[in-house]
Amino acid sequence: MTQQTAGLAGVIVGTTAISTVGKEGVGLTYRGYDIHDLAKHCLFEEVAYLLIYGKLPNRQELNHYQKKLSSLRELPADLKTSLELIPQQTNPMDVLRTACSLLGTLEPESNKLKQTDIADRLLARMPGILLYWYHFHHNGTRIQTETHELTLASHFLHLLTRKKPNPQHVITVNTSFILYAEHEFNASTFAARVTVSTLSDFYSGITSAIGTLRGPLHGGANEAAMECISTFRTPSDAEIGIKKMLAEKKKMMGFGHRVYKISDPRSDIIKQQSAQLAKDHSEGYFHSVAERIEQVMWNEKKLFPNLDFYSATAYHFCGIPTHFFTPLFVFSRLSGWSAHIFEQRQDNRLIRPEADYVGEKQRAFMPLSERK
Ligand code: COA
Repeated sequence: MTQQTAGLAGVIVGTTAISTVGKEGVGLTYRGYDIHDLAKHCLFEEVAYLLIYGKLPNRQELNHYQKKLSSLRELPADLKTSLELIPQQTNPMDVLRTACSLLGTLEPESNKLKQTDIADRLLARMPGILLYWYHFHHNGTRIQTETHELTLASHFLHLLTRKKPNPQHVITVNTSFILYAEHEFNASTFAARVTVSTLSDFYSGITSAIGTLRGPLHGGANEAAMECISTFRTPSDAEIGIKKMLAEKKKMMGFGHRVYKISDPRSDIIKQQSAQLAKDHSEGYFHSVAERIEQVMWNEKKLFPNLDFYSATAYHFCGIPTHFFTPLFVFSRLSGWSAHIFEQRQDNRLIRPEADYVGEKQRAFMPLSERK
């Protein structure tokens, strides 16, 4: 493969009316709205509605949508039984991937169950899926996956802690969900589009996307960032450790981006949340550690933090276990994936690129008996 096309960097592979990422190296918009406005003023449900239904909801539409999502939170009995069979040590991303695939067998896409209904069901149920599995295996309880919480953020935190969540934590998780919701032709979204371009079903598209998001070069970076940050107790320890990592040519997860060239517009928004929460947290020093890592990465490599870096500390300060960070990305990105599946299907053509062949030239065939 030629260098220019390695990883499809810089290659335009389609059109979209859903979002713009890094036009001239900066900025992010969802359906024309700037991410700063959405993050400052919206609930995640407004943004999910914008992505899935194409417009920001008015008050009545939002109320109706929140009620609809709340009403869909109960899990089918067969799904709960299957979650009980998934081993305790499983990577939580594999739990979500398996559950999504299984739902495709329990409630397949059909004329009666349309793509928007499935998108809403998955959005409503993913936190319950993760936490039903988690509490069953880790605490020996079969939790009720319905709560009276009206937002996805508060619903998730409620299911995690089994009590009314801290309002500041709800704000942070809600903000992170808005920031994670959509990002044009990133790897997982592209995987979803490739899958449904074969005329496969909605669940297969989302299952492909979850599997693609799992890797540390994509969604898994927030967990890897926290694992690294938490090895340091002070900013100076971090400075020494990161310089050593860079000297060994290791990557610091949560830095760099394929499309943004100057900065990730989402990073400062979540950094503010991390800074706010650090003030009252016993491990608030992780925020200062993270800031020093940011400084070192810029001075040494001119690399800036992406959304995953300060999401890691922000989530940690909300009491969210590190291995749930990437699943939280799924809860939110489901909205963007769904919008892209709809868009792909609207004007579908099979996605099937070509490769430069660099293998052996034509060779004489040798029967099995003659091969050494
Ligand atoms: N830490 C250290 N060095 C990094 C780096 C990081 N996080 N990200 C990029 N670099 C360096 C690479 O080592 C490479 O250096 P080289 O040219 O000396 O070999 C150069 O920057 C280009 O990196 P490359 O991985 O080829 O860029 P890419 O466009 O293919 O990849 C990412 C983009 C996001 C995959 C890459 O920046 C990365 O791996 N980041 C860490 C994972 C992450 O945070 N992912 C979430 C993205 S939102």
